Amino acid sequence: MSHGEPQTITGSTAVNPPVASTPLPENLRRLDRLANLGLVSASVAHEIKNGLVAISTFVELLAAKGEDKEMADVVSRELVRINSLVTQMLRYSAPQPRAFATVRAHELLDHSLRLLEHQMDGRLIALQRDYRAVSDAVHGDESQLQQAFMNLFLNAVEAVGSNGAVTVTTETVGAHLKISVRDSGPGIAQENLARLFEPFFTTKKNGTGLGLAICRRVVEEHRGTIEIHSEPGNGSVFIISLPRE
Ligand SMILES: Nc1ncnc2c1ncn2[C@@H]1O[C@H](COP(=O)(O)OP(=O)(O)OP(=O)(O)O)[C@@H](O)[C@H]1O
Ligand SMILES: [Mg+2]
Repeated sequence: MSHGEPQTITGSTAVNPPVASTPLPENLRRLDRLANLGLVSASVAHEIKNGLVAISTFVELLAAKGEDKEMADVVSRELVRINSLVTQMLRYSAPQPRAFATVRAHELLDHSLRLLEHQMDGRLIALQRDYRAVSDAVHGDESQLQQAFMNLFLNAVEAVGSNGAVTVTTETVGAHLKISVRDSGPGIAQENLARLFEPFFTTKKNGTGLGLAICRRVVEEHRGTIEIHSEPGNGSVFIISLPRE
């Protein structure tokens, strides 16, 4: 029932990067900015949540006194909404400890897809799996990789809407494992392609615009790359390439 525009938190991108004495390469600057953003938003979120508790208590007291119950209800409803937005922001941006180990990509893909199967069935989205990789072992953090895959799957499902297909393919290319997520959705406009990985860039009413930013950060932390092929009207393919173990 959220009816606000999460884009209103775009202001948070204005977080100043630290003043670096020597210029960093663009990709490092981006990582750095994201890491900062994570720390700053985690602490800001914490403070906002504290403030919300005080405000809620106050509003409940007012409502109990019977003073302008309707107004109190409106405020309460908005507080619930802000609280869930902040909670979501915390979940997306809080820095997490890394736990690198051997990850079986096919198992992890299957596990992540299982979480979405129900949603896909309901929307008549056909899921195709084409696991061609001869070896699917990568050295990585399973839960972060799952988050990266899930963000791509969710985007694919959201892009298709209903009645279409999502195809997940793996292949080994030299020392790399390539994982492609293809959807039969509307594709991506040329002018948006360059901005997709920007934190808070979203074209969705209820999107936070963090899915792909997180995805890219995770992939880069695994020394991998991510690329996109898309043409309006022809669906999209997101390809993650990770070094094999
Ligand atoms: N498979 C896709 N097909 C078409 N457009 C896409 C696809 N994946 C991403 N996009 C575009 O990229 C934007 C950014 O995606 P991203 O996952 O970062 O954020 P979001 O999906 O809008 O919100 P969130 O993932 O935080 O809920 C989307 O709003 C959409 O415009
Ligand atoms: Mg998304």
